[in-house]
Amino acid sequence: MKDFKRTLITTALPYANGPVHIGHLAGVYVPADIYARYLRLRGQDVLMIGGSDEHGVPITIKARKEGVTPQDIVDRYHNIIKDSFAEFGISFDVYGRTTSDTHRRVASDFFRRLYDKGEFVEKTSMQLYDEEAGQFLADRYVTGTCPHCGAEGAYGDQCEACGTSLNATDLVNPKSAITGSVPVMRETKHYYLPLDKWQGALEKWILEGHKEWKTNVYGQCKSWLDMGLQPRAVSRDLDWGIPVPVEGAEGKVLYVWFDAPIGYISNTIDLVGDDYTKWWKDPETRMLHFIGKDNIVFHCIVFPSMLMADGSYNLPDNVPANEFLNLEGDKISTSRNWAVWLHEYLRDFEGKQDVLRYVLTANAPETKDNDFTWADFQQRNNSELVAILGNFVNRAVVLTHKYFDGTVPAANPTEKETELQAEINDLKAKVTEALDNFHFREALKLAMDMARAGNRYLQETEPWKLAKTDMERTGTILNTALQICANLAIVFEPFLPFMSDKLLKMLGGDKISWDMLGCMDLVPAGAKIGEPVLLFEKIEDDAIQAQVQKLLDTKKANELQAWKPAPVKADCTYEDFEKVDIRVGKVLECSKVKKSKKLLQFLIDDGMEKRTILSGIALSYEDPSVLVGKEVCFIANFPPRKMMGIESQGMILSAVNPDGTLTVISPSAPVAPGASVG
Ligand code: 2FM
Ligand code: ZN
Repeated sequence: MKDFKRTLITTALPYANGPVHIGHLAGVYVPADIYARYLRLRGQDVLMIGGSDEHGVPITIKARKEGVTPQDIVDRYHNIIKDSFAEFGISFDVYGRTTSDTHRRVASDFFRRLYDKGEFVEKTSMQLYDEEAGQFLADRYVTGTCPHCGAEGAYGDQCEACGTSLNATDLVNPKSAITGSVPVMRETKHYYLPLDKWQGALEKWILEGHKEWKTNVYGQCKSWLDMGLQPRAVSRDLDWGIPVPVEGAEGKVLYVWFDAPIGYISNTIDLVGDDYTKWWKDPETRMLHFIGKDNIVFHCIVFPSMLMADGSYNLPDNVPANEFLNLEGDKISTSRNWAVWLHEYLRDFEGKQDVLRYVLTANAPETKDNDFTWADFQQRNNSELVAILGNFVNRAVVLTHKYFDGTVPAANPTEKETELQAEINDLKAKVTEALDNFHFREALKLAMDMARAGNRYLQETEPWKLAKTDMERTGTILNTALQICANLAIVFEPFLPFMSDKLLKMLGGDKISWDMLGCMDLVPAGAKIGEPVLLFEKIEDDAIQAQVQKLLDTKKANELQAWKPAPVKADCTYEDFEKVDIRVGKVLECSKVKKSKKLLQFLIDDGMEKRTILSGIALSYEDPSVLVGKEVCFIANFPPRKMMGIESQGMILSAVNPDGTLTVISPSAPVAPGASVG
């Protein structure tokens, strides 16, 4: 790796149209935070830049839906997002917002500079226009059929089904997301950044110069470049955004993907003022963009073209983009509320930030999409954090209190301890390499191997037995175990900062650095350590069940919302209908049929005699006795039919609910058994 003086880490600015969820965390913020913390431990000069993306159609759509202003929306979610990141330990040096005065000025100046240099092409073209709303439709304001994969509901900027980036006018059968009406074409002028002008430079920079980038990132860039870049509009006809700062552009704002990445620059300026040039323009600064895979084109093609057009900025050195995290087998979705929201997690699992950080890293979608499940979350907590890491530290600290009254005993290392130290140093080298290459899953596994090595050491040396005969050797073992604990506090700091802090306090330490990793004299003999504190606690089934139930409720609510009555069947005549003898009967008995999940057995008073009817509605009636005494409608003239050895003499009528459950149809007032229905 080239030597750099400092590292600027940017993290994708989340849209402030909702809280952040585990998909955001696993894709961007947890890996970025691990890396930033790691570099800081190595004593490097680092800035980690974050902030909310407050412009663009996602914000205005949400505002319209709620009947409030876009400013209300961004004020609300910016604060929720910012606070939850802070509580989760994401160590931004600055967390800004794109509605700030600084950003408005910096983004405006950036556009103006490029405009003055003649870097834009002005083009008038026909665009989609909603006559009812009186507005041009771009990006997420318009949906339609994807011209590439045929999926319905593709957006005007992207088809989420196949991932293709689109122009609104590419959509087949476009429909306004505002009014639902079919748009007309209307002429409008826009400013285009000619990406084609930068094609050669981008090819040289990425395809030749950055073959080390992750294959998913390199591959996406290559396929864009192979297709041939086209000019891209960087203005929009909207009333929410930063006004295009040139004459003749009244009513137009900067395209959100033009202003948002400039937010990284504005937020740096808010933090360090004029010193920002050191972070953005000095070739000895290394810039890294942490993003999700849907943002690759903007960070590898569009933003770099803007930076090249300006000419005075560094280009990113790497863009370690992640794939997507799914939730319980389904795509995470803000609009379908299919997510684990960070602010809710922090409320439901108070003090357990590190558990989620651990699970999201252990299962990070680094090379392919991955799935988060609550069962895996519980399992990793109980069998890894509690049983391996927590257990080792607890044994070391508790035994030191038991045998040495909490004073660190002296050590006389033997070959066993030398071997253990060599193993720790070997793991250190491997963790370091994994972190340097953004392989955070691997790095976490190796860090856990250090705790495993500690457990194995205690298991093999059995100080609790030795204490009966050899206190000196017991002292050496516990001293060594405490040194491993201190090493764990260092190696886990980037991943589990809350645990690391607690552990350090227990050991009586404060300052740590990556250089100290591998040392076996971190906790001095003779020092007093603190009382044992549990680092992790078991997560019980009921806490997990509550989360699973929440998701099941969401699924049900979504199904209900998406439910539509079935289309009306083909015509039938009155004569057809008359053939069916529908009657009212009174339920005398109702019980589940043995060995059948679905069948209920009814005994019905049909006004003349008693008849048995079997009905496949058992799953909808947990307690069939609730139906006894009720009047129900049934078909009286179906030929008898045997099921499970019982003859059924008719069919009970039920309505099929949106969730698939069945409800028996009863008259709205008392009716004599045997009465015909017609
Ligand atoms: O995809 C998104 O959520 C965008 N708001 C990311 C913007 S990243 C940067 F350019 F600001
Ligand atoms: Zn598609």
